[in-house]
Amino acid sequence: MKVLLLGASGQLGREWQRVINEEYSDEIALLPYSSSDLDITHYQEVSDEFRNQKPEVVINCAAYTNVDGAEDQKKLARKVNMEAPLYLAELSQQLDFKLVHYSTDYVFPGTKLDKREFPNGYLEDHPVDPVNWYGKTKWEGEQAIRQTTENHLIIRVSWLCGQFSSNFVKTMLQLGQERDELQVVDDQWGSPTYAENVVNNCLNLLGKDIAGTYHITSKGLISWYDFAKAIFKMNGIDVSLEAVDSDAFSTKANRPYFSKLSTQRIESLDGSEIIEWKKGLKNLMDHLP
Ligand SMILES: NC(=O)c1ccc[n+]([C@@H]2O[C@H](COP(=O)([O-])OP(=O)(O)OC[C@H]3O[C@@H](n4cnc5c(N)ncnc54)[C@H](OP(=O)(O)O)[C@@H]3O)[C@@H](O)[C@H]2O)c1
Repeated sequence: MKVLLLGASGQLGREWQRVINEEYSDEIALLPYSSSDLDITHYQEVSDEFRNQKPEVVINCAAYTNVDGAEDQKKLARKVNMEAPLYLAELSQQLDFKLVHYSTDYVFPGTKLDKREFPNGYLEDHPVDPVNWYGKTKWEGEQAIRQTTENHLIIRVSWLCGQFSSNFVKTMLQLGQERDELQVVDDQWGSPTYAENVVNNCLNLLGKDIAGTYHITSKGLISWYDFAKAIFKMNGIDVSLEAVDSDAFSTKANRPYFSKLSTQRIESLDGSEIIEWKKGLKNLMDHLP
């Protein structure tokens, strides 16, 4: 299977490369493109490359992911998160490849009320209502794809953590070395999505040749504070942790209080594996350098 990987040097893109190189290099010919190899908003170059390579699958890990920056760079965020995915979807139609695209829990309103009403998380077809511009552009990107090609997988993830790039786990480990005391938010709830688990579940979906929208995250519901506590405990790091409200940290973009995605749909498929959040954390710890 010939697969083109866009946004290959980001957190998820690097995980895709690692898993394919380590485990599937006989079955999958993966061509990775970092943003400097191929900018997804340079449509002519994208078109030329795709027509030349004739992929069966295109995995789009490229995105404008600076949530606060998106409030200032609205046009750029929309261009990368909506206009470029629309173009990729048009190419999917013309050239007959499957488009795998990633999105976020930030499409949902994430209210405290929703945490009480939907403790198992948002289903894929729950009404959206993004709380910030990043979430809005990601929703627009999803819709652009759905309306353009049936040949797609849209995968929503939350609190993404993997071996590469920066994420909450790596930030906490870093801060744990530098500080004796730390404040961590205790009123935002969700569950981490582990990058390796995303790749493995996506490979399972690709093997089934099905299309549609799926949520991938881990089992359980925790706050960032709970997550930080577990990270420090697992690593024997002695830090005095203080649980604080979101108000303690002012951010340009609003953040949802509730980020939990229901994984009921993907769990109904043979071969999918949704792990418990602590098991995923342990697995990640075992693989961090
Ligand atoms: N991280 C999370 O917690 C989280 C949560 C929910 C959903 N998601 C979604 O999951 C997906 C993967 O996220 P991630 O954490 O891997 O993001 P990431 O580490 O920020 O990687 C995104 C990549 O996109 C590239 N990129 C940006 N603009 C581009 C362009 N015009 N052309 C080509 N490449 C471009 C970036 O390259 P440069 O670095 O060179 O700019 C970067 O390598 C995204 O769709 C994101 O929205 C992430």
